[in-house]
Amino acid sequence: MSLLNSPDPAVREAVVRQDLGNVLHPIVQHRALEAKQIVVTYAEGSTIVDADGTPYLDGMAGLWCVNIGYGRTELAEVAAEQMRQLSYFPHTAMNVPAAALAEKINLHMGGGYHTYFVNSGSEANEAGFKIARQYMKHEYPGEYRFKTISRYYAYHGTTLATLDAGGMGERKAKFEPFSGDFVHVAPPYCYRCPFGLSYPSCGLACVKNMETAILGEGPETVAEVIIEPIMSGVGVAVPPDEYLPKVESLCRKYGILLHIDEVINGFGRTGKMFAHQHYGVSPDIIAVAKGISSAYLPIAATVVKNSVFDSFLGEAAENRQVAQVNTYGGHPVAAAVALRNIEIMEAEKLADRAATTGAYLIDGLRGLMSNKIVGDVRGKGLLIGVELVKDRTTREPISAAQMTSVVDFCRDHGVIVGRAGGGRRYGNTITLCPPLVITHAECDRIVETLGQAFATLDVG
Ligand SMILES: Cc1ncc(COP(=O)(O)O)c(C=O)c1O
Repeated sequence: MSLLNSPDPAVREAVVRQDLGNVLHPIVQHRALEAKQIVVTYAEGSTIVDADGTPYLDGMAGLWCVNIGYGRTELAEVAAEQMRQLSYFPHTAMNVPAAALAEKINLHMGGGYHTYFVNSGSEANEAGFKIARQYMKHEYPGEYRFKTISRYYAYHGTTLATLDAGGMGERKAKFEPFSGDFVHVAPPYCYRCPFGLSYPSCGLACVKNMETAILGEGPETVAEVIIEPIMSGVGVAVPPDEYLPKVESLCRKYGILLHIDEVINGFGRTGKMFAHQHYGVSPDIIAVAKGISSAYLPIAATVVKNSVFDSFLGEAAENRQVAQVNTYGGHPVAAAVALRNIEIMEAEKLADRAATTGAYLIDGLRGLMSNKIVGDVRGKGLLIGVELVKDRTTREPISAAQMTSVVDFCRDHGVIVGRAGGGRRYGNTITLCPPLVITHAECDRIVETLGQAFATLDVG
């Protein structure tokens, strides 16, 4: 029985004691957890419920991942059935659900791809770096094409290499120095254009900056460019439509692989199955995670174009096979759950729904621009950022304490919203990434609660 209808303060207190005495939590300060905890015991649709019975509308789909919404009990049945049939065997052999899932992914990519399974978005990108490097060793023997070009303010994961690829200074600071294999260029964060320019008169200075970096490094040292089409972590930076095609042209011009990070953007989130499909590009490597299973089980994948896959074919003695392995990759239970998750997305047309509900939510949020602290409202589908400023002309960000007060106000009024990880400077965007099943009434509630939170701020 769920705790939705049976809150039990004694049980809740015991869990809090047990947790604080034993768990090391990620990224949150334990003292903050001591002051205010949420003990999640139940969830359904777009709502999570605390052990004390308090419901919260989850405007972030967990950690940008529960795309089909909570409480789909049919996935529990799929998992149980698969465990009875085959709980696990390493993916050096074939299994039924992983083969079917790879075929499904290939179908949604438009054909011409093979899938390598891993367990998290970080691992999917990390495997992508390694596949790009190995590909270059095969195709350019004797040369050293190993660098990855990435963008400042990007986030690509938590392992050392993916963190290095990312461009969020404060997340990296405690782990420096890094290898230097990742070269950073200016992001297409148009609201805060690094060149102080405006689109379209900027002539896409950020792409020119990328070409300068490629030439400066020497194209013969570069393996790939990694791009998250819509940069989530910095506060949902949506690039001009021609940005990604221009980056792809640079890759083709210099023989560099295009690695797309669809970890958040993928699986319907932006109104298409994959965000790169908005821009008509044909990536060589695609990292997928999160929405692939809507986080019902951990699974992720590195999807490679057949032209890359072909480079890994040969006689055993040629040693061209994928030179990496992980215990749980292609896990049959996770694959079966992911497959059914995608079938649910197809049956309920959740990508289309993200497009229409997202437009509705963005429209509602733009209504909040009557409050002058709302500097920008942007997004695609149900991936949305609301950037908060002290002054619309100077675009000076509101303070970190004011951001915290907005997020806390919403939580205290039953709505969970996110905030940008930012760079060293920009954490002043409220992020929204709700389950794709969110209703219009729930969107109205998010808008209304944010409006109330903004009204409490005094920015002078
Ligand atoms: C764009 C992007 N790439 C990669 C990752 C890493 O995924 P994971 O946390 O599953 O390792 C994240 C995580 O939020 C992400 O936002």
